[in-house]
Amino acid sequence: MKKGFLNKYVSWTAIAILLLSMLAGWKSSLLHETKVEAAARPILIEGPMPIEAENFAKKLEKVKVEKSGTFVFYKGKLDGYPVIVAKTGKGMENTAAVTALAIEKYKPIAIINQGTSGGHDPSLNVFDIVLGKRVTNIGSLKTETKNAGEGMDPSQWIPMDLMASEGSGADANADKVRYYEGDKDLLAAANAVKHLYTKGKVVEGTIGSADFWNNEVDRINWIHERYGTSVEEMEGAAAAQIADAYDVPFLGIRILSNNKTNGGAYNPNTAAANQEYVYDVVKQYISTIKK
Ligand code: 5AD
Repeated sequence: MKKGFLNKYVSWTAIAILLLSMLAGWKSSLLHETKVEAAARPILIEGPMPIEAENFAKKLEKVKVEKSGTFVFYKGKLDGYPVIVAKTGKGMENTAAVTALAIEKYKPIAIINQGTSGGHDPSLNVFDIVLGKRVTNIGSLKTETKNAGEGMDPSQWIPMDLMASEGSGADANADKVRYYEGDKDLLAAANAVKHLYTKGKVVEGTIGSADFWNNEVDRINWIHERYGTSVEEMEGAAAAQIADAYDVPFLGIRILSNNKTNGGAYNPNTAAANQEYVYDVVKQYISTIKK
């Protein structure tokens, strides 16, 4: 009687252990799945102004909005892959801050900084798109020495590479232009879908950034000659510099909304057109990283 009870006790315990371990296995495989999903690093798309970010954000599935300071992150999915649109605000400082914050917070696999720009190349028209084969800071400059009363001459200013050394501005090694190269896989994705864009042409070029908007054509030409710029805007180089600091693949994609060098008048509808194209680029990029 006692022995029978013991046997029953042992077998019930064995069944219980079996069931519990099956449950544990099932739970850990579930946990593994969610971990794998969580491990898919998002693609970060930056846009400075509402008209340069919100259209893209609206195209995402399952969007959750997160805010940090003045920055807005729209976290969603595109073809099931995580994509985050960041509304950065205008200018270099906002963009650098958002880029560092987003890299720390979301660990993006790649970053695209996109929006409108002003043409420096007279062969480019409003609605044409420049893929940033190179991005450079065109507002980092050192002036010639002139004494009181000798005036100022911007045409003699010298491009200054802020990342050349940890020394002072007097360091002559810093007297050069620093270019950040666009990531080759992002560029390949962008080139692969350029036939889908019908509102203008898509070309590779050099994007110049600084917190200024130039309307002096002689000055635009000076920058164009010195730096080889195709367009100017106010964000790309700041994002590229921070992406480079963290070794995150980066590409700038800029549509011309204006071009002083050939009379191209400002058209705000270009912002939406660029987002349509960047959407196709991101779709294409996702299809390559899923393989
Ligand atoms: N010069 C500078 N920035 C421009 N932008 C569009 N055109 C120009 C231009 N000609 C973009 C900037 C900024 C906003 C004012 O528009 O990147 O975000």
